[in-house]
Amino acid sequence: MTTRKPATSNGRFRSQEWFEAPGHIDMAALYLERFMNYGITPQELRSGRPIIGFAQSGSDIAPCNRIHLELAKRTRDGIRDAGGICMEFPVHPIFENCRRPTAAIDRNLSMMTLIEILHAYPLDAVVLTTGCDKTTPAGIMAATAVDIPAIVLSGGPMLDGWHDGDLVGSGTVIWRARRKLGAGEITEDEFLDMACASAPSAGHCNTMGTASTMNAVAETMGLSLPGCSAIPAPYRERGQMAYETGVRIVEMAYEDLKPSKILTKASFMNAIAAVAAIGGSTNAQPHITAMARHAGVDITDADWRAAYDIPLLLNMQPAGKYLGERFHRAGGVPAILHELAVANLIDTTAATVTGKTLGENIEGKASKDREMIKTVAEPMMERAGFLVLKGNLFDFAIMKTSVISKEFRARYLSRPGHENIFECKAVVFDGSTDYHDRINDPALNIDEDTILVIRGSGTIGWPGSAEVVNMTPPDALLKKGITSLPTLGDGRQSGTSDSPSILNASPESAAGGGLSWLRTGDMIRIDLNTGACDALVEADVIAERKTEGLPPVPESMTPWQEIYRSTVSQLHTGGVMEPALKFTRIAEKMPRH
Ligand code: FES
Ligand code: MG
Repeated sequence: MTTRKPATSNGRFRSQEWFEAPGHIDMAALYLERFMNYGITPQELRSGRPIIGFAQSGSDIAPCNRIHLELAKRTRDGIRDAGGICMEFPVHPIFENCRRPTAAIDRNLSMMTLIEILHAYPLDAVVLTTGCDKTTPAGIMAATAVDIPAIVLSGGPMLDGWHDGDLVGSGTVIWRARRKLGAGEITEDEFLDMACASAPSAGHCNTMGTASTMNAVAETMGLSLPGCSAIPAPYRERGQMAYETGVRIVEMAYEDLKPSKILTKASFMNAIAAVAAIGGSTNAQPHITAMARHAGVDITDADWRAAYDIPLLLNMQPAGKYLGERFHRAGGVPAILHELAVANLIDTTAATVTGKTLGENIEGKASKDREMIKTVAEPMMERAGFLVLKGNLFDFAIMKTSVISKEFRARYLSRPGHENIFECKAVVFDGSTDYHDRINDPALNIDEDTILVIRGSGTIGWPGSAEVVNMTPPDALLKKGITSLPTLGDGRQSGTSDSPSILNASPESAAGGGLSWLRTGDMIRIDLNTGACDALVEADVIAERKTEGLPPVPESMTPWQEIYRSTVSQLHTGGVMEPALKFTRIAEKMPRH
């Protein structure tokens, strides 16, 4: 029996309400007995030690997170050594690349099921195992809603991929190889070779895609131990980090260091700044917004606009050259935050899981690899945050400016007297099947002055919101060397994409947004100086078209799709389940016997 008491309001762990069940020995017996069947003793469970959940996100169908099946062993060691008892359980898997119609529909499902587990079982704290894109926000949203001590353990990225002497990063290689295939430069076999070469080991995407971005966000918000997010999955430091994380979560359980004591507006603002500095995924916008809303923090358009001025500091694909191994060796997230702190661009007083401030955690962590991590004074690029746009087509959309290529800038953004302003003729696709069916149709007359528009790809329309906006130009243009066209849509795009699309447009077409009345042939004017994006269509014509109803969207195919559609918000507001937001600090109320 431990004599140490937790700093909870009643000086007890919530698991004691199950295993001691004061006044209910019959219930205590029931709660205890079945744990005996794998050899754990009643004495252990009634010792007053914290029960630490290990929320296992890895499985054979979640390969990006599969390393956690191994890491669990080291985390358990850490939990035991620190005086806790570990109970591992599965969470709803989310695998970005394979889940149809899109993994996005499962972020809220995974969150909701994890909330039920954390609330209803005798768990005092939890290790959130993260990796693939949505596994990070799903876990954080759940732990925040329940509000028990929680720590993020990333599985880490894969080793760097190499093909023919070139670095090939996951996801990014697909978009680049697809353009080469369309241009007739490579065969389908070569395409597959390049893709497979990008995935040389266990781990999640080795580019600064959504996975690395969201793990960096978690670390920046103070939810993981410093340096956790960038350690490649197979490195020995990954196992050591798993052990240290296990040790620390036991201490956090005693300290009652809950997400509500860590996550403030400052944590989220720091995360938004970090996303700009690392050239992070545009998916960070809905995920950060969703996590903030569950934490009771309001993120406004002005907050995103303010971060537009943050420079790009990290030389990593898709915005830069290198991959995850070099990022880790160059110092990882602490080194990025160090640069931002030196330039006063983040709030270093923010709290973290270490019990120290963010500033204390990153002291002395400046990078020595200036090819990989730049200073604010000499960045990769000035103003690399997401550009927020609005106009008659949508109230909110973003553009990832850190991936605007020289070629794109020269063609669209450098007309003398009209810098950063361009006008293009829309070609509108209803979802990705329509895009694939028609993109090479010569009758569409797609040329350099075309903007490719996709609708029906938002949270309701898809459902779940699809990564489809980074549309590749038709093969005929690829063969002429035109590798990217302006694109716009109410869906998302992969964080690994190097396309400067205008995406996450909200409200989406299926919710009556402006894309619903847009027609092929309409001119669209985009002004990156002011953030205005408008279809040049007269008001009376718009009003007339609005009477014609919304473009059709596919039917729901499962119960969850139907339920999801009835509760989900737009990407602008995080794609959250609105009715779920009223449940905060759920653990304060004990579930009844
Ligand atoms: Fe899972 Fe990229 S597909 S991390
Ligand atoms: Mg993705």
